[in-house]
Formats: sequence, structure tokens, C-alpha cells
Amino acid sequence: MTPPSTPQRLAGQNALVTGANSGIGEGIARELAAEGANVVVNYVVQPDAAEKICAEINAAGAGKAFPLQADVSREADVTAMFAAAVKHFGTLDIVCSNAGIQRDSRLADMTLAQWEQVIGVNLTGAFLCAREAVREFTRRGMRDVSRALGKIIFTSSVHQEIPWGGHCNYATTKGGIMQLMESIAQELAPQKIRVNSICPGAIETAINRKAWSTPAAATALKKLIPCGRIGVPADIARVAAWLASDESDYICGASIYVDGGMTLFPGFATGG
Ligand code: BGC
Repeated sequence: MTPPSTPQRLAGQNALVTGANSGIGEGIARELAAEGANVVVNYVVQPDAAEKICAEINAAGAGKAFPLQADVSREADVTAMFAAAVKHFGTLDIVCSNAGIQRDSRLADMTLAQWEQVIGVNLTGAFLCAREAVREFTRRGMRDVSRALGKIIFTSSVHQEIPWGGHCNYATTKGGIMQLMESIAQELAPQKIRVNSICPGAIETAINRKAWSTPAAATALKKLIPCGRIGVPADIARVAAWLASDESDYICGASIYVDGGMTLFPGFATGG
């Protein structure tokens, strides 16, 4: 018996994912393509990784992908990236503002460069990509691939809620993304643009390698995760594909925590 075919929820749509050459962004790009979307795989360094991901997506036979270099903290890079994406695919329907970095330091030792780099990529980058997304959605107008004029999905973090000593630059950007997301979701909902955030907990990627790559570190990390496992990019990517699809058409301005329960204050299970 032939198994029932799964309909591709994003067929005919075009997506751009920033920071898609590794980690969560890579997972999102692969999942959106598997759901039928064409995908721009943005990267800033490591072109080989981006090209390999695109080649694998293209060989898989669902959505098509191509790599685009841009530093999201630079306005000229972002406008050029959106222009190139629109030239290539015709328009964009889904923009995943995912690129993020950490430059960790205790406050007293934090340099202005560490502060500014993280604000630049994580927060200014999110603003620039959201602005260009909205400009493109409104220029193009409604088309019949989705009930929405466009979808913007931010990769935020549990640290938009959980304070994080030693990482105040990073946590500040995630708190900022929450207000950016909610403010523009409110502003743009009447235009049928849906804006939401995914807030990952500890996901096994290069950004937090130190926190999971030794047995002792992984054991300590799991104490912060009630469900007892460290996440993987696919945990986030599945939610991103659903948030980009019409199945979530009534979800607008939401922060969806995908964290194995990290935001449930696990210390209070036995304390307090
Ligand atoms: C950070 C990771 C960290 C996780 C949970 C993420 O936003 O990038 O380094 O492991 O939050 O604390």
C-alpha cells in the first residue's frame, strides 16, 4: 500500500533564514525546504557550510535553496541581501530572523566591543531584517500561497525571560527582541502580517558547545531542564515550519518557548 503523501505546508512560498549555515538556522532552513519552501540560506562566514546545505536541500527535491552572504548588523548588507533574494525568487513570504551571537563576559570585564557586537547582530539585525521583510510584503501585496501577507519569525531565547549573569549583552538583546516582536506584531496584524518568536532553551549547537560537550557539563545543564534532555535543532525547526504555515494563522505576537521546561523554574521542584 502506498503511504498517504504528506502535503507540503509551505509549497510555493519563499523564505529567508539568517544565520542558516549552522545550528538552529540550518535546521530551520532544511525544515522549511522539506515543507516545500524555497529558501535563502544566509551566512556571514563559512560559505562552504552554506553551499553544502544548499546543495543537499536542492538534491532532496523539495524546495530550492541558494546561499547569500550578509552581515545582518550592517544596513547595506541587509538591503542588498533582500534585493538579491527578491531578484532570485520573485518575492519573500517568510523571513526567519535567526542570526545570533554570544560574546560572554562578567559585567566589570565586558568591553564596549563585546556589548556592541551582540547588540548589532542580535537586535539591530532583527530590526533591519524585519523592516526589509515588511517593505517587501507590502510592495508585493497578497498572493494565493498563504492567508497571510507575510510571516516574520524571530529566534529569541529563554533569556528574554530568564536573567543571565555573565551574559548581560545577550540577555538584553533577547529582552529587546520580545518588545520588538510584540510592538510590530501589534502594528502589522491589521495588514495580515504575522510576527512571532520562538524561544529556544538549551539546544545542542556550536554557540553553547561548552555547556553540553563534556559529560559533567551535560549533567549540570540537564538539571536546568525538567524534561531531562538537551534539545536539538529539529525541535526548533518543526515549530518554525508550523509557525510559518497557515495552521498557525491565528497566532500573532506570541513567544513560543521550546525549552524542555527550562522556564518552569526547575529549582522550585524541590526548593522554595
Ligand atoms: C543560549 C545558549 C544557552 C541557552 C540556555 C540560549 O539562548 O544561546 O548558550 O545554552 O540559551 O541557557
